[in-house]
Amino acid sequence: MAAADPPTAPKPWHARPARHRRPPTTHPSAAGQGHLRHDAQDRPDHRDQPRGRTRLRRRPPPGRARPPRDPHRARPRRARAADPQLRQEGHAVTTLPLDLADRASIDAAADRLTRECGHLDVLVNNAGTMPDFGTLSALDADTDQVRAAMEVSLLGTWALTQALLPLLTAAPVARIVNVSSLCAQQIAAGLDLGAPLRSPAHSMAKYTLNALTAVLGRALADTRILVNAVDPGNIATHPERGDDDNDRSAAESALDIVWAATLGPDGPTGGLFRHGRPVA
Ligand SMILES: NC(=O)c1ccc[n+]([C@@H]2O[C@H](COP(=O)([O-])OP(=O)(O)OC[C@H]3O[C@@H](n4cnc5c(N)ncnc54)[C@H](OP(=O)(O)O)[C@@H]3O)[C@@H](O)[C@H]2O)c1
Repeated sequence: MAAADPPTAPKPWHARPARHRRPPTTHPSAAGQGHLRHDAQDRPDHRDQPRGRTRLRRRPPPGRARPPRDPHRARPRRARAADPQLRQEGHAVTTLPLDLADRASIDAAADRLTRECGHLDVLVNNAGTMPDFGTLSALDADTDQVRAAMEVSLLGTWALTQALLPLLTAAPVARIVNVSSLCAQQIAAGLDLGAPLRSPAHSMAKYTLNALTAVLGRALADTRILVNAVDPGNIATHPERGDDDNDRSAAESALDIVWAATLGPDGPTGGLFRHGRPVA
């Protein structure tokens, strides 16, 4: 029996004619009644896809909001947590503290790697913050949140890359992978999308990270270092925010990072990739 043709995939929301785009104010989050879960914010082409259910998180009642994160707390929390399991699986693992918002921490990490390793084959700049996943317009952006997002995704990543450049140059070949996000495409598309700009701080930070990637790719063109950005897709890393059943596992997304980290000598540089393919 011949299988029926698969249904044509719906166009991403920003590619649709304006009359087919969902007016932003129809979503309860736009009216301040709740906010979209983290990864729905992180995928501008996801909102108009047919969904089995819509997940919203209510804002906590006044007085029950979580305390703000302490930006100076010891890092890396999750890397440390994963450490014993990785050792058990036979990997040689060392974790070191690194706060990308703190120049002294970046320099200390670079000094330690220089002392202990001598060279660096791969730098994966994975850190990111999404301080404003409930914000739906650049006009409502809290510039302190923009600054915080830029501090980690752009400035900290830039400074760390500079600090580690001697180690990367000392390697026979080296790769830099900047973990980006589809969110940046909202801005890359010129904002003429007929929908609000979601997570403006996070989106702008990732957009500038993509620009940094292109600039570094050009600056390192005559070296054996390739630098690329990767959009890892929607990852089930935040069950507390209601990860979607369709989200990729972290292990699955990591394969795209590994692809960029193991590119051959003739591989691309300075680009943004998803599933190993360039994002226009
Ligand atoms: N989850 C998704 O659906 C999705 C979609 C597109 C792109 N991405 C991108 O993929 C990357 C990983 O996503 P995720 O879901 O795992 O994000 P996440 O849960 O928010 O984790 C962010 C990571 O960044 C680190 N970090 C934050 N601030 C830092 C700082 N000041 N200095 C050093 N490290 C810092 C965190 O370290 P600690 O653990 O120590 O706090 C954590 O390891 C991020 O860049 C994100 O933007 C994710």
